[in-house]
Amino acid sequence: MIILLFFLTLFVHVEANCKTGCGLAFASYYVWQGSNLTYISTIFNKRIPEILVYNRHVSNPDEIYTGTRINVPFSCDCLNGDFLGHTFGYVTQLGDTYGKIASNAYANLTTEDWVRRANVYDDTVIPDHVIINVTVNCSCGDRRVSNDYGLFSTYPIRPGERLSVVAAEANVSAELIRRYNPGVDFTAGSGLNIFVPAKGISSRVIAGISIAGVAGAFLLGFFIYAGVYRRRNVAEASLDLNIQHGRGISKKNSETTALFSSPDLTGITVDKSVEFSYEELAKATDDFSIANKIGQGGFGSVYLAELRGEKAAIKKMDMQASKQFLAELKVLTHVHHLNLVRLIGYCVEGSLFLVYEFIENGNLSQHLRKRDRDPLPWSARVQIALDSARGLEYIHEHTVPVYIHRDIKSANILIDNNFRAKVADFGLTKLTEFGNTSMQTRLVGTFGYMPPEYAQYGDVSPKVDVYAFGVVLYELISAREAVVKTNEEVTESTGLVALFEGVLNQPDPREDLRKLVDPRLGNDYSFDAICKMARLAQSCTLENPHLRPSMRTLVVALMTLSSSTEDSDVGSLHDNKALISLVSGR
Ligand SMILES: Nc1ncnc2c1ncn2[C@@H]1O[C@H](COP(=O)(O)OP(=O)(O)OP(=O)(O)O)[C@@H](O)[C@H]1O
Ligand SMILES: *[C@@H]1O[C@H](CO)[C@@H](O)[C@H](O)[C@H]1NC(C)=O
Ligand SMILES: *[C@@H]1O[C@H](CO)[C@@H](O)[C@H](O)[C@H]1NC(C)=O
Ligand SMILES: *[C@@H]1O[C@H](CO)[C@@H](O)[C@H](O)[C@H]1NC(C)=O
Ligand SMILES: *[C@@H]1O[C@H](CO)[C@@H](O)[C@H](O)[C@H]1NC(C)=O
Ligand SMILES: *[C@@H]1O[C@H](CO)[C@@H](O)[C@H](O)[C@H]1NC(C)=O
Ligand SMILES: [Mg+2]
Repeated sequence: MIILLFFLTLFVHVEANCKTGCGLAFASYYVWQGSNLTYISTIFNKRIPEILVYNRHVSNPDEIYTGTRINVPFSCDCLNGDFLGHTFGYVTQLGDTYGKIASNAYANLTTEDWVRRANVYDDTVIPDHVIINVTVNCSCGDRRVSNDYGLFSTYPIRPGERLSVVAAEANVSAELIRRYNPGVDFTAGSGLNIFVPAKGISSRVIAGISIAGVAGAFLLGFFIYAGVYRRRNVAEASLDLNIQHGRGISKKNSETTALFSSPDLTGITVDKSVEFSYEELAKATDDFSIANKIGQGGFGSVYLAELRGEKAAIKKMDMQASKQFLAELKVLTHVHHLNLVRLIGYCVEGSLFLVYEFIENGNLSQHLRKRDRDPLPWSARVQIALDSARGLEYIHEHTVPVYIHRDIKSANILIDNNFRAKVADFGLTKLTEFGNTSMQTRLVGTFGYMPPEYAQYGDVSPKVDVYAFGVVLYELISAREAVVKTNEEVTESTGLVALFEGVLNQPDPREDLRKLVDPRLGNDYSFDAICKMARLAQSCTLENPHLRPSMRTLVVALMTLSSSTEDSDVGSLHDNKALISLVSGR
């Protein structure tokens, strides 16, 4: 219902300046004498722990210092299709005026005029203890300026505060700030409210630290893990012994077979973890030469290696391994599934290196969008969806501990020579929480895959992956990037989800849906199957995580889709209804 209303407001306005907002923006709140976190928490309707997640400089929440700033996270919405902002409900106090509310309570994050406009009360007769609207503007970036920044602070400049200092603190150039604030007269001095790129807090880091906020879930995961670890201790001990023996030889290989009697149920099979020496990895990659480099991601660079007569992909991570990290890694090497890229081993000399099985045929993103690749036929796309769903279902439900991937996207779905898909990098986001990371700033793409509850509150559940999987389904249909530019004039980029929602919510979406289908499919597809997949994707990307299907349900639905595609049967309307009801529980 809420979603429906949301889209109504979205599409009623024909001449829209914005279509969607972005999950997250910050209000840079200047701490004045007498203000405190309780107060800030109240006026921004945000719980203190959620605020603290983005303010690691605050060591004692009971004591914040006058003259410092607090980053208050909020969701940056497209209001009335007209501008980006967020409206907070503020409870008035005796003697409040719009001017005071703007400059004192909200520390100049908004203006008197801007507050007045959002409310029905006359200045002179604002009642006490009523809720009024306070709108704070925000930004989601501007593709014409740069694609590197997607997260912004709304930043009121203090009297005497200089742009160069603000720029230096944000670690960006003053020129970049100017370009993100066209129309702002920087010579005016005080009274300016500008948008400053919030660099240094990447989507990844945010995700990482948000988890700390959801300590409950995190601890639970850890206990499950600790249980497993304890059970395995005896085995590990003998394994370590083997490693000791192996020293001096360049490969420290340890294979202990049949140590666990019935391990397959848990996904932990025979212990085959391998610790490699740096020497061996360097040799296998021609000293990590540029020629061997096959990719660069948010965690590090990936190299093709010829290791022990077989091809491997070695990921050189931008981080060191901690103790917890290593324990976790060992568990990861035991997770095996046809639709998961296998972690063969690792090396911790110098940096951290992860050794994966090499998947020959590139990633899904390349297959969908690189012109030098043949277009993927529809049947292959359905198969890829099913394979990825199976991989995800496995880590969600059958491993011990269970994993949430948190970085599902087309670049993390690898394709083998038979056009079967394997999910890469599961467990990595979890690992990074243990690492003493110096994670690079990175905002690319990932935004388009993040569900609102995760981007806003850092809520992690398997439904985070389900949402991202839905975005991948939309990609399979349209071959478009998860974040798409709709129109040169519209400054912000909008996600595939919004694009498809706009179409699927029409009374008869068929015509417009056809326009979204990847032109490279030609006429070689069943439109009915496309509709089914689009409906699946729609259910995956529902705003309410509880309403999204589980990966298990998705596997079943995609199997049905896959078998009907194999028969190259057009699929009856009856099927379609059954499928949708299966998925949405309707
Ligand atoms: N096991 C592998 N076999 C073959 N190619 C791989 C393998 N792992 C990664 N690659 C290639 O290297 C690229 C970079 O991988 P990497 O995981 O570092 O970055 P990413 O997937 O783009 O982003 P992220 O850091 O979010 O996972 C991948 O997109 C993929 O094309
Ligand atoms: C927090 O600040 C508000 C507003 O200034 C004040 O009324 C309140 O007493 C303060 N609370 C504490 C615990 O200091
Ligand atoms: C808001 O701006 C006014 C005028 O520049 C200034 O006097 C006041 O201190 C500012 N308030 C805060 C909290 O920064
Ligand atoms: C917010 O944005 C609108 C539209 O761009 C603008 O008219 C208004 O002055 C802005 N308000 C503030 C307080 O910056
Ligand atoms: C706040 O905004 C809503 C929606 O625009 C409006 O209906 C309501 O009357 C406003 N509240 C006040 C106190 O003006
Ligand atoms: C500022 O950014 C540059 C690259 O843009 C980076 O090398 C440097 O480490 C950053 N400094 C800080 C303090 O983050
Ligand atoms: Mg990857």
